[in-house]
Amino acid sequence: MIWTIFLFVQALLLYFVLTGRSRSAKEPPLDKGFIPWLGHALEFGKDASKFLNRMKLKHGDIFTVRAAGRYVTVLLDPHSYDAVTSDSHSLDFTRYAQVLMDRIFNLQLSHQQMAKAKAMMRKHFMVANATVLNSAVNRHLRALLQAEIPQNQKDWKDEGLFDFSFRILFKTGYLTLFGGEKNNNSADPSSVYEDYKTFDGLLTKMARGTLKSGEKSTAQRVRRRLWELLAPAGLTEDSGSSQWLHAYRCILQEGGSDEETQKKAVLMQLWATQGNVGPAAFWLLCYLLTNHDALIAVKREFGQISQMEPSETPLTDGTVQTPVFDSALEETLRLTAAPFITREVVQEKMLVMAHGQEYLLRKGDRVCLFPFNSPQMDPEVHREPQKFKYDRFLNADGSEKKDFYKGGKRLKYYTMPWGAGTNGCVGKQFAINTIRQFVYTVLTNYDLELCDPHAQVPEVNAGRYGFGMLQPKGDLLVRYKPRKTHTRA
Ligand code: HEM
Repeated sequence: MIWTIFLFVQALLLYFVLTGRSRSAKEPPLDKGFIPWLGHALEFGKDASKFLNRMKLKHGDIFTVRAAGRYVTVLLDPHSYDAVTSDSHSLDFTRYAQVLMDRIFNLQLSHQQMAKAKAMMRKHFMVANATVLNSAVNRHLRALLQAEIPQNQKDWKDEGLFDFSFRILFKTGYLTLFGGEKNNNSADPSSVYEDYKTFDGLLTKMARGTLKSGEKSTAQRVRRRLWELLAPAGLTEDSGSSQWLHAYRCILQEGGSDEETQKKAVLMQLWATQGNVGPAAFWLLCYLLTNHDALIAVKREFGQISQMEPSETPLTDGTVQTPVFDSALEETLRLTAAPFITREVVQEKMLVMAHGQEYLLRKGDRVCLFPFNSPQMDPEVHREPQKFKYDRFLNADGSEKKDFYKGGKRLKYYTMPWGAGTNGCVGKQFAINTIRQFVYTVLTNYDLELCDPHAQVPEVNAGRYGFGMLQPKGDLLVRYKPRKTHTRA
């Protein structure tokens, strides 16, 4: 009996040691969950959107949860997001990025190398080379589509829309930025894509450290193969890759990274630049094909462009505006872009919410925004948030609608697919231009339709909440063939 009591007390003590953290008066509500150390990790990983909605109902717009030994303060009030995204002094982007880099890519880079690479990338993608990049995208896109769907093809070809969109855009991006053309023979875009897809399928588990043993060896094998396939990319100025990749290699070399590290870093860049564009284009085409009015409206707008003076890149050189397409894309991203915006608290911070309430953030914890739940899917901000409304971001006069409200106050962030502040997406404009060119080319030059006219938008893979663009659980079967008459090739 005494032994039983002794063991029980020991177990109780151990439980408190392992779970020992209590909330101080100034801190957000604390929810540790019942499982020692793990806390809410399982529910969080299974469907983060559902879990965070449950926590919001219980605690309100700010709360701290325990997940796999870490304490994460989740903020869901979009009026208060600036307090996090604009404070890179107390809330650090790089540390958590370094944790993910290590887990996913087995890569360690210094703070300085990352800062230099970002500044260079910002310059490269945002200003200097936009025209060169866009026309390379245009050229590769048309060549790839032409090779897959020759003009003399008469019969319909059936395929999953996700596979189709991801494959074409991945190869386009790879050829544009990583220069597959001039690399060694084994690095043809198809083999890189096949390996990348396997890698991408395991990515969320790598990030969470939950790979099973069989998956671990697959991940290692495919990662090693990708390192080798990408080894020549950007090595020399004439390796066929974009100037950006060569400049990136130089930054790594100057920072003392050996060849092995450089290969790993190039794979990380493949993911950063290609991981979200294909899925975003898929969702857009998917919503258009399942919403007749939206498809007609976008096609009508594109039809006007194709009758204008031909220019090589009419959609990206600023000569035409596409407000209907832009609104449809914004609406698509509202429904399917679901990144966590995560920062590490590197020094204690008093977070001041928009309504004036203050909360203390502990050093060593993480802060996470999840704009997908609010503002993007918040019914107070967007009426019928589950519905795709292609003109949600259009005013009656055709201009862009930017006024959305929560709690009677106009929102700065009414949708946030690209993040915000100092660490917002540097590839935003390049990504938008690429998706616009892809959708334009496909809808203008090809007949594309659902195999089953009553098919619905597929369910999302709920395990990917938090990792950028969502992906479907299954796929949407479509069929396509070249259009008989069209004005522009
Ligand atoms: C649909 C496509 C894309 C989406 C939805 C997207 C989304 C995002 C988001 C949400 C962030 C911010 C992460 C944070 O604050 O924690 C981000 C960062 C970033 N994105 Fe994108 N992105 C896309 C495409 C691209 C492309 C094509 C490139 C490069 C050409 C790119 C390069 C980057 C980089 C380098 C960062 C990190 C910025 C930093 O270090 O501060 N992204 N992206």
